[in-house]
Amino acid sequence: MFAPLNPRISDWRGQRVWLVGASSGIGAALATALLQRGAHVALSARRAQALDALVQGESRQRACVVPMDVTDPGSVADAHRRVQTDLGGIDLTIWVAGTYTPMGTDQFRLDDALGVVRTNLDGVLNGLAVLLPVMRRERRGGIALVSSVAGYRGLPKSLVYGPTKAALNNLAESLYLDMHPLGVGVYLINPGFVRTPLTELNDFSMPALIDPEDAARSILAGLARGAFEIHFPGRFTRVMKVLQMLPYRLYFALMRRFTRSDRGSARHAGDALP
Ligand SMILES: NC(=O)c1ccc[n+]([C@@H]2O[C@H](COP(=O)([O-])OP(=O)(O)OC[C@H]3O[C@@H](n4cnc5c(N)ncnc54)[C@H](OP(=O)(O)O)[C@@H]3O)[C@@H](O)[C@H]2O)c1
Repeated sequence: MFAPLNPRISDWRGQRVWLVGASSGIGAALATALLQRGAHVALSARRAQALDALVQGESRQRACVVPMDVTDPGSVADAHRRVQTDLGGIDLTIWVAGTYTPMGTDQFRLDDALGVVRTNLDGVLNGLAVLLPVMRRERRGGIALVSSVAGYRGLPKSLVYGPTKAALNNLAESLYLDMHPLGVGVYLINPGFVRTPLTELNDFSMPALIDPEDAARSILAGLARGAFEIHFPGRFTRVMKVLQMLPYRLYFALMRRFTRSDRGSARHAGDALP
């Protein structure tokens, strides 16, 4: 009953990890942490130079840089083939890549909206297209999707980012139900606010803001527990989980109140929850 929902991963020595979205923020911190712990890591994102800069010292022998654009299915398939060859297989894929554009109804721009969907949702589907056949055939390995607590419920000014993350949360649950019986791990990672390039344009005070290194530590701790959902920091995500359970009438009233409480500025945490 209380057994871990997923395989526990605590000894990273020799583990072969494909890290997608490794060039900055949470992904870069994870890359450093995994390499320090002895993992063999393939680092992917669009900016090859930023990926190269992360590979230092003796960890060079255990790292390979495989640039790709998650929005391009051909680029993802090519990168996947290269990673399989370079690492000799993949034990865990951590899909961190994502983008964020705050958007309310007054700023709705179709091109921007579809761009966020292409990166955050289509990108993951492009990854699944190449990963699922291998994991199903081999009946091993795992995939961890970085989503967000912004996917728990609808938020002001989160017209597109939030829905993409809600889709990932739902997708991870479906994947778990399908893949767990085959022995494949499916992990869902839901961070609160993390200080990264993605949030640096936010000019409001972000509650319980943490550094990417703390986020990486929480992710590794969650993987070591074999958790399905890895959410952090708890002091923030526990509040979000309570909000998630409220009936609509109460939830909407609370969100309105929260929004009005900071009316002096149009910017508040609910404007742009990552
Ligand atoms: N920061 C937060 O507060 C927070 C909170 C909850 C969830 N998250 C989620 O955490 C993940 C990482 O975000 P972050 O805060 O670390 O932001 P970040 O520093 O901006 O990192 C985003 C990463 O995604 C990669 N990426 C973006 N578009 C890509 C594309 N088309 N192809 C390949 N890679 C692409 C970027 O690399 P290139 O630009 O080099 O391609 C970069 O490595 C995102 O999924 C985000 O939604 C963040």
